[in-house]
Amino acid sequence: MIQTASIAEWEQGISNALTQVVGPLQRVTVLEETRSTQTAARDLGAKAGDVIVAWRQTEGRGRLGRLWADTGEEGVAMTAIVPRDRSERLAVAAAVAVCLAMERLCRDRVRVMIKWPNDIIVNGRKLAGILVEQVADCALIGIGINVHQSDWPDDLSDRAVSLGQLGVQADRLQVMVYTLIGMQLSLQMNDRRLVEQYGQRDGLAGRVAAFRNGQREVRGKVLRVDPMRGLAVLTEDQGEVWLPAATTTVVKE
Ligand code: BTN
Repeated sequence: MIQTASIAEWEQGISNALTQVVGPLQRVTVLEETRSTQTAARDLGAKAGDVIVAWRQTEGRGRLGRLWADTGEEGVAMTAIVPRDRSERLAVAAAVAVCLAMERLCRDRVRVMIKWPNDIIVNGRKLAGILVEQVADCALIGIGINVHQSDWPDDLSDRAVSLGQLGVQADRLQVMVYTLIGMQLSLQMNDRRLVEQYGQRDGLAGRVAAFRNGQREVRGKVLRVDPMRGLAVLTEDQGEVWLPAATTTVVKE
């Protein structure tokens, strides 16, 4: 049986983690319940350096207007606020950070992959998702991680997975601490190092896939990911095409 930290222990536990590795994140606010940590960050007037975490998030937002299922007391929902930067770079930094944390927790028992732009996948199922939103002078990096879930709504049952289902018994506080340590490190990496880290976990490179960017659908072989520009796809009709991370989604692999 794992030791479960109470909500009262979260603030101290996360604050300790943020000082353990020096980086851009400095302060944490713990909410007992919120609809979305992204919305809460705006409502609270959060600033770069703040982290908002929720014991329970009821109406989380996903990319492209999708919903993120109610975490109950089983998932991690958090938003890290950083200075504005390119969405592509922030998405890649967050994806690398989550992978570093998941690999540490899973101790290499499973292969943790990134499905561009920022789904964290194990055995073809989604373990975590990332949403980057730009506001006035900062960016909100929202991260949702499945930790203890075992019952999924029908539409997610063959698409989602939790750490528990992978045989990893981890407390949510520990998952957040490892993820934030990963963020402190990845947000300080230069683009070259980020691309290298991403490339080691890239679940799409070399595969043929279809993408939607606005009204446009692009199909081709994925060549590489570059945090500066997005994703390079080799198409039959247009040659090499670059797709921006913020507005593109995978429609078929
Ligand atoms: C996706 O996979 O589409 C992105 C999901 C992002 C979910 C997280 S949970 C914490 C933060 N708050 C939100 O409302 N969304 C993000």
